[in-house]
Amino acid sequence: MEANTEVYHVPNIHPTTVAPLLDHRRNVNTLYANGHGRMVAPPPRVNGGQNAESIREVGARAEIATVGEIARTCIQSYGIFPNWVSQLTQFVLAPLLFWPNGINKCRLECWTIAPDWGDGEGPDYWTVNNGERLCDILLEDTEFGTQIQRSMESPGFKGVPLSYQEARIYHWNQNADRMIGLDKVPSGLSVEQVIGEDWVHPNDPRVTGLNSQ
Ligand SMILES: [Fe+2]
Repeated sequence: MEANTEVYHVPNIHPTTVAPLLDHRRNVNTLYANGHGRMVAPPPRVNGGQNAESIREVGARAEIATVGEIARTCIQSYGIFPNWVSQLTQFVLAPLLFWPNGINKCRLECWTIAPDWGDGEGPDYWTVNNGERLCDILLEDTEFGTQIQRSMESPGFKGVPLSYQEARIYHWNQNADRMIGLDKVPSGLSVEQVIGEDWVHPNDPRVTGLNSQ
């Protein structure tokens, strides 16, 4: 789930599938109370977004009229605490749900929620041939999961420094610790509570700085 909660991995993991759709260097994270979050990234400047638009519209035949401007012009992804990660465009809401079901195991549930297309054939955002296999993007996302998990469990692993692009991951972990109870999580397993209210929506020190200039 954490791998789907940042865009830092896009140029390396999705060079031909996702990278042409969004400019990962210009992503903006919004942290909401209680561990929720949102990522917004505009299309790359180089092609004026035409590429992104054409790919996003493939197969889409019905719009969600109430979807706003950000979803229509950028790639955005919502994280709903604790286990929902979804894009939202004017055509589709496509949640990935992550269900831990054992030590080092997780069930990944893929949903495509879209308006009725009217011909009995619905869109399928995440799989090929109605669940026969994961789509290329999800195959890329899950390809290294086992190895990453193994390396995280190795004695040499001491933690990961997270950048701004991964702020929602940290926000999630901070909130998970709070929900369990800060006095109940062993110190070696907890994260430091470093993200303050000044970063939680509607607060954002960068916006405050802009307004005061
Ligand atoms: Fe990905």
